[in-house]
Formats: sequence, C-alpha cells, structure tokens
Amino acid sequence: MTTSQNPRHFLDLSQVSKDDLRSIIDDACRRKQLLPGGDKPLAGKMLAMIFDKPSTRTRVSFDVAMRQLGGETLFLSGTEMQLGRSETIADTARVLSRYVDAIMIRTTEHERLTEMAENATVPVINGLTDDTHPCQIMADLMTFEEKRGPVKGKVFAWSGDGNNVLASFAEASARFDFELRIATPSGSDLDGRYIEWARGEGAKILTTEDPVEAVSGADCVVTDTWVSMGREDRARGHNVFMPYQVNERLMAHAKPEALFMHCLPAHRGEEVTDGVIDGPQSVVFDEAENRLHAQKSILAWCFGEVT
Ligand code: CP
Repeated sequence: MTTSQNPRHFLDLSQVSKDDLRSIIDDACRRKQLLPGGDKPLAGKMLAMIFDKPSTRTRVSFDVAMRQLGGETLFLSGTEMQLGRSETIADTARVLSRYVDAIMIRTTEHERLTEMAENATVPVINGLTDDTHPCQIMADLMTFEEKRGPVKGKVFAWSGDGNNVLASFAEASARFDFELRIATPSGSDLDGRYIEWARGEGAKILTTEDPVEAVSGADCVVTDTWVSMGREDRARGHNVFMPYQVNERLMAHAKPEALFMHCLPAHRGEEVTDGVIDGPQSVVFDEAENRLHAQKSILAWCFGEVT
C-alpha cells in the first residue's frame, strides 16, 4: 500500500475545494466516454469497503469502479468487525492502512468516519453517514449537467425529510453556486449547521414548510425516503410528510423542462408517485449509473490522478 501523512480524503463537499469538485465532475464525464479496459490508473491498488449498513448502489458501484480502474476491493461488514467495539476505530484505521490503499466506509455516526480519517494513512471516502452522502450528490450534479448544462445559477428544490442527502445538497449549493429551496415539515428540518455553513460561503438557500413555494419555477425537484437509514426508530409520518410527496400536481409547479431526481431506493406511493418516478422528467436511473462514473473520478482524485 501507499501510505501518506496527508492522504487525500473525500469526506464531505465542504472539505474539498470548488476547483477540485469541478475537476472530479469533468473527469467523470470524460471517463464515462471511455471503454472499460483502457485506462487502468489504479492497477495494483486495493480499496477496503466497510459497510455498517446495507447498500446496493454504493457497494456495487464502488466495486465495479475499482475493477474498471484496474484495482481490487475487499468487502468488510462493519457489524462483523471489531471496529468501534473491542478495538478502537483509530486502531482499526491504523491496521487497515497497512493492508490496503484506500478505505470507503458507510457508517452510522459521522464521528466514526472522521476518526477513521484522522488515523488512517491512506485516503478515506464517505460512503454515507447518518449526516451526509457526498458521493451521491456528485453523481446527481453530473447527471443534471449531462441533461441541462452547468448547474451554476440553476434552482434545485427539495421536498421531504431534512436528511443526510439534503445536507450534502446544501454543501453542494455553495460549492457549485446553484440555488437550493428546501421544503420540509416542521420538526424534520435540515440540521441548521449545513445551511449556516453554505450561506456563509455565499449560497442562496430558501427554507419553507410550503412545497409549492420551493418547487415553483425549479430546474430540478429532488426527494428521498421519509425514513432514512439511522432514523428507522421514527414512525413513518405519512400524515406529516404526505403534503411533501412529489406527485404530478407538485411537479406541475416546476419548469416544464425540470428534472426529477431521487437517490434510490424509492418508496413508491410515499415520497414519490409512480407517475413521476417513471415519467419523462425522471432521471433516477441515470443518477444511479453515474454513481459508477463519479466514483471512478473520486477514487482517481484520492490517488492524485485528477488535478
Ligand atoms: N443511493 C444510495 O446510496 O443507494 P444504496 O443505499 O443502495 O447504496
């Protein structure tokens, strides 16, 4: 493995520069055009993937991304490791850094991710925590730009729960200079520190309890599950969330050419109707595909292959 005192971690969009994030998306668009089998910049590299929580897209797309870049992966179930139980996360990070070249972790508390990064001597990538999901947003913005051009100055509307995906959208609004309008029910608001940080960086963010206000004139409408991982103890608050469902009536308030996004898995009939997710404005499967391409570029960036 290649160890470093200053590994290039991909933890949150607020911790990566605007220029680097732009380079990653541009690189992802370029890589998408390449046939797998040509460019092998990560030959000989091993990525450890630790999952404390279930995953389809993140697990498979990271695995395929590493293979297509010439590297290999090691799947580790966090629940079967001594991580954070009989061994500190710091010690696990030091040990793994002796075996592998990078670590991707999907975990519960964000602090577990940061402790891993503080103690690893190889790059650490956030594959989702209960707080944020930055890899998802890179794929989402790549998808928007493929369909509608630069995100700068565009209006993204969120309707639903103030969850970890939204937190990364808020950080992205500052990094990529788009407007974000957030409609969440009272009590399910996004943690204010993300909005505060983004506004401090110059982002334009509206918060409201009215989904129509958020969606009116939007270029893209986004939602996600009403019961995110890490919040399973919360009852599905259909009565509270139902006005925030993205259905044909709500989409009609967005621009006619507006896109619909959802990171998946979707709960059809809850946060989104079949008519919207299967309709002509939906790009959810392009988003899912672009997890692969965006993550190839995130991995390449971590190893200094994207400048
Ligand atoms: N969107 C997303 O992260 O999907 P998975 O939970 O399947 O990885």
